[in-house]
Amino acid sequence: MATTTNSYTSVAIIGAGSVGCTIAHTLMLRRVCAEVRLVDIAEDLCKAQVQDLQDATYLTNVRIKYATPQEAGQSDIIVITAGAKQKPGETRLDLIEKNYKVLGSVLKGLHPINPLAIILLVANPVDVLTHFTQQMSGLPKNQVLGSGTLLDSIRLRGLLAQRLNISDNSINAYVIGEHGDSQCVAWSSATVSGAHISLIDDISDEEKVEIGKLVSGKANAIIKAKGFTSYGIGATAANICEAILFDQRPVYPLSCWHDEHQCCISLPAVVGRNGVVTQIPLPLNDKERAQIESSAATLREQIAKF
Ligand code: 2OP
Repeated sequence: MATTTNSYTSVAIIGAGSVGCTIAHTLMLRRVCAEVRLVDIAEDLCKAQVQDLQDATYLTNVRIKYATPQEAGQSDIIVITAGAKQKPGETRLDLIEKNYKVLGSVLKGLHPINPLAIILLVANPVDVLTHFTQQMSGLPKNQVLGSGTLLDSIRLRGLLAQRLNISDNSINAYVIGEHGDSQCVAWSSATVSGAHISLIDDISDEEKVEIGKLVSGKANAIIKAKGFTSYGIGATAANICEAILFDQRPVYPLSCWHDEHQCCISLPAVVGRNGVVTQIPLPLNDKERAQIESSAATLREQIAKF
């Protein structure tokens, strides 16, 4: 059982761009950890981001510092956001060549990595990068996870909340598979406050397809308008860090290793201080099983190129 040596917890964020700094700011405002360590190869930019974020420590007493990759490697959680981001119309898998190289140099700089550290991948394509990090970091698989389809599931619940006129946190519904174009909605297990009631069944198949497209296309729609996404993934990553540091054990669809699929892919998992504590088998119908296997095949195909 990985435990920190003391209550002084630190989260390192690799990449001081829009996503990395939104995660930092969210962690600070919510007092998730004692110290945020920001790392970026663009030293001046990184130091300026730290300067700016330090003005927020007045509110919360969470320290933030410009850190070296070696210091980042000794943190409790290492969040990797560094890499190219999607341009309008690009898929996340289109980023694989560039971001595989960035990941390799990031991991080299982190060594020696704290053996108790949890590495959280946020950079895309997150499932494939999670897989490579498990291979290259030397950490146990349960300590290396990706934000996966948690953000997509949050987007789905938001849309269903509007459609059903119910609070989104009373809706239990998962997007599973790749955090990308081959993802799928596990409609057969979607419920409203745990009750398998007709509200979800009232949604026609055509509408479900439409909702699935809105969810999988939301990032690109935002990227087209503002150039990137940051607040959604920032809050999502901060939630995952909180679940880890406080051993909260929520069930999140995060990208982690699945023997059945021989790749890292998003299915419900319990998240705690040790990273992925256990995986929760989600009942799927034949169509959903075929969809997630096709998603896994897409990911295995990409991995095989390296
Ligand atoms: C998102 O879904 C771009 O993967 C990022 O917001």
